[in-house]
Amino acid sequence: MVVAQPVTIKGDCPSVAVIGGGAIGLGIAWSLARAGCAVTVFDRSDAGHSASWAAGGMLAAGVETEPGEELLWQLASRSQHLWPDFRYALQADSGRDIGYRDEGTMVVALTRDDLEQLRFNYEFQRSLGIELEWLSSIEARRREPYLNTGTAGAYFCKNDHQVDNRAVVEALKRALVKAGGVLREHAEAAVEMAGGRAVGVRVGDEVLKADIVVVAAGAWSRGVEGLPEEVRPPVRPVRGQLLYLRMNPAEPLVRHVVWAPKAYIIPRRDGRLLIGATTEERGFDTKPTAGGVFSLLEGCWRAFPGIEELVLDEIVVGFRPGSRDDAPILGPTSVEGLVMATGHHRNGILLLPVTVEAISRYILKGRVLPEIEAYRPDRFRKVTGGKS
Ligand code: GLY
Repeated sequence: MVVAQPVTIKGDCPSVAVIGGGAIGLGIAWSLARAGCAVTVFDRSDAGHSASWAAGGMLAAGVETEPGEELLWQLASRSQHLWPDFRYALQADSGRDIGYRDEGTMVVALTRDDLEQLRFNYEFQRSLGIELEWLSSIEARRREPYLNTGTAGAYFCKNDHQVDNRAVVEALKRALVKAGGVLREHAEAAVEMAGGRAVGVRVGDEVLKADIVVVAAGAWSRGVEGLPEEVRPPVRPVRGQLLYLRMNPAEPLVRHVVWAPKAYIIPRRDGRLLIGATTEERGFDTKPTAGGVFSLLEGCWRAFPGIEELVLDEIVVGFRPGSRDDAPILGPTSVEGLVMATGHHRNGILLLPVTVEAISRYILKGRVLPEIEAYRPDRFRKVTGGKS
């Protein structure tokens, strides 16, 4: 992949301005800086502290795939395969560990109804070729000793790993700067147009020229100033609340990523335990709610009653960039010089390597990889006859 094989083509490299300093924008910028491009990332706030900060970091191409997402699964699966190389390149460039864990993911059923749903998901995901192992409740509890004694059944996906998303963005910032890229935080950038093409960005009164402008502003992508109407991406904020609890890392209550019927549960090596996530349509409202926190705690408690003893460290509110078809928006637009990398919805961290690979390849070589053909920004115009 592009990030794992740095090629120095200084001189031929276009200059690039990336609007949005989340994992996607930082990852693309890092890859391009590594290849010798002059690249600057602009973030309206603290880079990496929006959706990327509130994510869970699950690389769950297997267990998160639902009926209707067969095509998206191919992209997710490609990205899942790229993750190990991406991890080594990022860790080497940044000198930081990104908390990659490969214990696998367990999906559990707690009631008879859940068990029927679990069997359906298991059969569906296996029909896509996803490697899964059915577990008796005894075997599930052998692997997760603090799981509810009433657990009805479970299955296991050994290839669904996790990373610490917060460590990933910190590593990306560092790797970007070490590779010669520039990061400008608290700098809200607008697209600068001239002669019908994107020619750079404007920050306040300052205009910065660039050959290519990449919009990677997550849930804020639709509102980026200066975007021509016909390429404004149909992305909205899909709000999620997530909790951080604290376990004893020497005797962790949870050992794998576990999907319970009403919450997913993610243990980190240092003892943090994440419980996610709600799915809400509340615009950019940043206030957590009692109902959200209650449903997450209850969903986790049903699977792991022992959480009652844990400290609640943090309540996080984030905004997934949901597109009209819930799939990412990737590649060149009808406006010359303007590229999109947004709309990753529930899968921003999982889809990071494939997005970095595809967008960097397009910018460096002018080629749209077949993997992202189905996700081109103009697909919405085809359906609606021009409106997006
Ligand atoms: N991928 C998990 C979430 O969006 O909540």
